[in-house]
Amino acid sequence: MNFTPEQRAAVYEAIHNRRDIRKFSPTELEEDKVQRILLAGHHAPSVGFMQPWDFILISSSSQKEALALAADKERRALAIHFAAEGRDDKFLQLKVEGLREAPLTVCITCDPTRGGDHVLGRNSIPETDILSVACAIQNMWLAAYAEGIAMGWVSFYKKSDVRRILAIPPHVEPVALLSFGYTDHYPKRPILEESGWAKRTNFDSLIHHETW
Ligand SMILES: Cc1cc2nc3c(=O)[nH]c(=O)nc-3n(C[C@H](O)[C@H](O)[C@H](O)COP(=O)(O)O)c2cc1C
Repeated sequence: MNFTPEQRAAVYEAIHNRRDIRKFSPTELEEDKVQRILLAGHHAPSVGFMQPWDFILISSSSQKEALALAADKERRALAIHFAAEGRDDKFLQLKVEGLREAPLTVCITCDPTRGGDHVLGRNSIPETDILSVACAIQNMWLAAYAEGIAMGWVSFYKKSDVRRILAIPPHVEPVALLSFGYTDHYPKRPILEESGWAKRTNFDSLIHHETW
């Protein structure tokens, strides 16, 4: 745990410059890089060390197409929520997934039954299983960045659609669709910031001392 200044800088560079990407080039990904990214996910922390994740690798055009249709259905259904603010047209212009283009999409799942009824530390806060999967996702995102590979997190879907398409058992949660690929444009700022949809919150306003 004794990082050189260069190693430390590399960690912070990955944390600060990692972006969510939705446009991918068709270049295939190298198998060894994909394996390292998946392994980074598997080495995430997890509540009671339950390791609730599985990784479903999707690269066939037919499965990509099925997932893209499910995502598009959900995207259109959600647009109605922005209608009252008059932002539905702008929302529909946003690109929120790159499922068709990305050479690889990984569905990461959460099995809440893994580890039995009494997983250490999970009794008080049941959603710590999903939180563990989120840690795995962030590990994969940072590993992908280090490999020069872009990743996009897609959460626009009905779980029932993804379960059906990927034959996921009913007790297992599809937590995220993660698209991986090379990209020609890796933006410096979040795409939602560049497009004027949202801004990064002022950091100082989020820091509290002693009490809220
Ligand atoms: C839980 C979660 C779900 C997300 N779902 C989507 C999604 O469905 N489509 C999308 O384009 N981006 C999605 N994102 C990416 C966010 O929009 C993105 O992280 C945010 O705008 C900040 O940009 P950055 O990741 O480039 O810093 C998701 C991110 C998280 C953490």
